[in-house]
This record gives sequence, C-alpha cells and structure tokens, in this order.
Amino acid sequence: MAYLLSHENFAKICEFIYRKSGIHLELDKHYDKLARYIDKRAAELGIENFRKYFFKLRFEDKDGLEFQELMNAVTVNETYFFREKDQFEALVNFILPELDKTMPKNRPLRILSSPCSTGEEPYSMILHIVEEAKLVERRDIEVVGIDIDSTVIEKAKKGKFTDRSVHAIPKNILNKWFDKKNLGYQLVDDLMGSVDFQVANVFDKAQMRKLGKFDVIFSRNMLIYFDDASRKEVAMTFYDMLNPKGYVLLGHAEYMSRIVSVFDAKKVDKTLIYQK
Ligand SMILES: C[S@@+](CC[C@H](N)C(=O)[O-])C[C@H]1O[C@@H](n2cnc3c(N)ncnc32)[C@H](O)[C@@H]1O
Repeated sequence: MAYLLSHENFAKICEFIYRKSGIHLELDKHYDKLARYIDKRAAELGIENFRKYFFKLRFEDKDGLEFQELMNAVTVNETYFFREKDQFEALVNFILPELDKTMPKNRPLRILSSPCSTGEEPYSMILHIVEEAKLVERRDIEVVGIDIDSTVIEKAKKGKFTDRSVHAIPKNILNKWFDKKNLGYQLVDDLMGSVDFQVANVFDKAQMRKLGKFDVIFSRNMLIYFDDASRKEVAMTFYDMLNPKGYVLLGHAEYMSRIVSVFDAKKVDKTLIYQK
C-alpha cells in the first residue's frame, strides 16, 4: 500500500521542518520513517490525505501540539552517560575552577545542556561535579537541560535509565548514585531534581532568551543534523546567551571554526573548548 506522503510532498514538509527546527531530512535516509509517521498520525486524526494533515500542521496548530508530535517523531535521541568523557573532565578540572575565580562570587555558575535528550549528558555533568569538583562546597552550580522533543524531557525527569545508557559509568560511581531495578537503573533521590529540564527549540529566540545567561553551554551531537546556515544561527544564539568569557563545548565531530569565528578555541588536554 502506498504512503500518504508522496516524494514531492516530502520536499514540502521537509522545508517546513527545516524552517522551524533546523533539522535537515533527506529523501533516501528519512522518507520511510516520516511517511510511516504521517500515515499513523493521519489515521489517529481521522484524516485521509496529506494535504489535510499539512493544513492542520501549518494553520490549525495554535497550541503547537501537532508540531511537537512531529518533532518527537523525527528527532534522533541517541545518548549515554559519560559520552565523550574528556569533556566532563575539562568541565570540572579546568572550566569550573577558572570561572569560579573570574566570575562574581555572589552568583551561581550556570551550565546549559542543549540538547540534553533523555538527560544522560546533564546528569553526567552532575556526577562529575559531585564526585570531583571541590568548588561545589562554596559555589552554587545550576544545570539546565533543554530539548525540542517533549518525550525525551519527560523521560529525563524520571531519572530512569537502561543498562546500555549507564554502561560507561565506572562501577563504583554507578553503585553510589543509582539503585539497580529489575529493568535498568534509577537515579538516587538526592540527585533527582538536580537538573532543570525544559522543552525548548534552539531556533525559538523567545524560548532561549527566557532561559537566561549561562557560563558554559554543552551543545553536542545536534549541529550535525543542521545545515551551515542553521549551525551559524544557533552558534550566534549561544554566543548571545553566554556571559563574557563563558565557554561552549561541541561534539567530537563538530568544529566551531567551521561555523563562526567569534569564539577563541582553547585545548584542555585532548578537548577543544570555545571561549566568548
Ligand atoms: C543525538 S541527541 C544528542 C544528545 C546529547 N547532547 C549527546 O551528545 O549525547 C540530539 C538531540 O537534539 C535534539 N534537537 C534536534 N533539533 C533540536 C532543536 N531545534 N532544538 C532543541 N533540540 C533539538 C533532538 O531532539 C535530540 O534529542
């Protein structure tokens, strides 16, 4: 049976998705997944063709819920604890101690995980901070995690993780901060609530402004799904959201020098970090 979504309409809906989220979908890689989703969603809504679905998405979605459903279907949420671990070490051994010295004493240091997917990245920061950062005793540190996908944010808030997701956490740290359950691991109560999770789209300027200013922004493994123009826009949004001398860290396959030239690159051991 043919899908409701034709190849021609795939181009139309991709242009819409790109404009609203920066996510760039390709016919050969993403057509089947998106077409299956539209068939399923149209059946749920009692809609019999793509035109009506697309009309609803564009013109009848005042609360943004239809777009949210679509985003939840097209995002790639792959993540795990201690992924690209050297960056968490750079955070606790170099960045936070330096910022503690240079930033006004009377305010918390603020870190943004954008995007955070199901929470492993911001909780990895928390685990490194509680395990290693001496300054936690004298300075408040706030960690905020955002993602465009509301289903991953709901999961992150529950603090429940699969065996696969925790596989890279050293055993002593895992046993200390997680309770083993029949299926997977539950973060201990003491650390629940240590990350402020919110649904937000990095292209939504109003949502990003509302999050406030940060000293460190981790933005790993999202820009790879964007094209050059979108990467540039997001990099400049992060620039504006950073306090002076704040840092951005990208995924290992992402390089700021290929996106914008407003940051100074520094190397901490093997890790590249970018300073405002
Ligand atoms: C592969 S995950 C990366 C998670 C984590 N940073 C890591 O490196 O393990 C990419 C995430 O980017 C999110 N994302 C994609 N476009 C976004 C946008 N426009 N605004 C916010 N999050 C977005 C997706 O929902 C997905 O959860």
